[in-house]
Amino acid sequence: MTLATMPTPGDTRWFVHDRFGMFIHWGLYAMGARHEWLRHAEKVPTEEYDRKYFTRFDPDLFNPEAWAQAAADAGMKYMVITAKHHEGFCLWDSAHTDYKATNTPAGRDLLRPLLDAFRRKGIRTGLYYSLIDWHHPDFIIDPHIGPYRESPERAAMNQGRQQARYAAYMRDQVRELLTRYGDIDVMWFDFSYPKPDGSGKGRADWESEKLYALVRELAPKIVLDDRLDMTDGWDIKTPEQFNPRGWVHHEGKPVVWEACQTFSGSWGYHRDEQTWRSSEELIRTLIDMVAKGGNLLLNVGPTARGEFDHRALARLGDMGGWMRRHNRAIYGCTQAPEGFQAPQDCRLTWNPQTRRMYVHCFAWPYKQLWLDGFAGKVEYAQLLHDGSEVEFKGLEPWQAEHWGGHEQRSGSLALRLPVDKPPVAVPVIELFLK
Ligand code: GLC
Repeated sequence: MTLATMPTPGDTRWFVHDRFGMFIHWGLYAMGARHEWLRHAEKVPTEEYDRKYFTRFDPDLFNPEAWAQAAADAGMKYMVITAKHHEGFCLWDSAHTDYKATNTPAGRDLLRPLLDAFRRKGIRTGLYYSLIDWHHPDFIIDPHIGPYRESPERAAMNQGRQQARYAAYMRDQVRELLTRYGDIDVMWFDFSYPKPDGSGKGRADWESEKLYALVRELAPKIVLDDRLDMTDGWDIKTPEQFNPRGWVHHEGKPVVWEACQTFSGSWGYHRDEQTWRSSEELIRTLIDMVAKGGNLLLNVGPTARGEFDHRALARLGDMGGWMRRHNRAIYGCTQAPEGFQAPQDCRLTWNPQTRRMYVHCFAWPYKQLWLDGFAGKVEYAQLLHDGSEVEFKGLEPWQAEHWGGHEQRSGSLALRLPVDKPPVAVPVIELFLK
């Protein structure tokens, strides 16, 4: 059997089926185009940030249909958009702040058309909501995060601030988001940084229990992330910017999980960043996450004018090209049951419903691919990209006898592959199990 995960309060059935989602980080920082943390990194004062960006934010080329199409074409089944990031700016027309898209030259609620466009493409919707807020007048400025963290004025600036009022503001906004924008499938809060001396922020500062209760009251089935500094109550663990070595566990038990990653390092649009990952490596990462029982939430940082970066579009296109032919090795799939070992340079994904096993070849072998633990269990095998039969036979007995080293091991099965690597980023062999 495959690993049974801890039961989740929300409904994660669709989530573990769909596997591949799009993260979108979009806000005023797209104009700075040098990381969504630029206010923190450069200690930009409020007046300056707002004078430069808030008064000029005007995404005149914003076409939510095009975004949704790019996600759908890539094979992504859900999305999570930053309704509000750490800068505090809101993409929607919130009644609880003036710091919102409607008050910029954009002059309109940007969230609603976006959610509608994705839904029309059959893509589920999720909202990222930052717990951290560098704009709100009640958010206590701490020594760790934000433009004023090291300011000599910090104590003075904190005079009169009341974190509890900020916590109430968050609840008001979350209520708005979960009642006025249709069914939301994922709620993604970010993030907590409790410190032993109390100088950070965690559940007491966010009033996490109340926030949880509110979310569950308004959207009982929603998939909720784990970044509110709570030991339970959440649905998914969210390892960030790395590939876990195996199925993600919490307190010794396997959980539902989602890796979130960027194309290039920054989450917000970053014009000059040069560390863009290759399409092939991104495809391998998606496979690797599913082979370990997880999801991949891959991020796009749209530009200030409202378009996807050409480098993101190129990679999404490549991933979609692969997904079109190989998506049944991803959707509905999970880690292979115990006893089946991935051959060298390969990953296995397994669909327990259809009983098909997928062998993803990260490096193309020379003719023989030995599958340990598969002997007698496979009925039929084919290359997935073209549905061409793969025969299973190892070396001729005389070959093994004369040259040794390649003998049939008990329990293993040899696939006979073509010498030429199929013309796809990662070739996959589909095995129909008995
Ligand atoms: C982080 C960062 C952030 C990004 C997020 C995505 O915690 O603060 O900018 O939104 O991770 O996981």
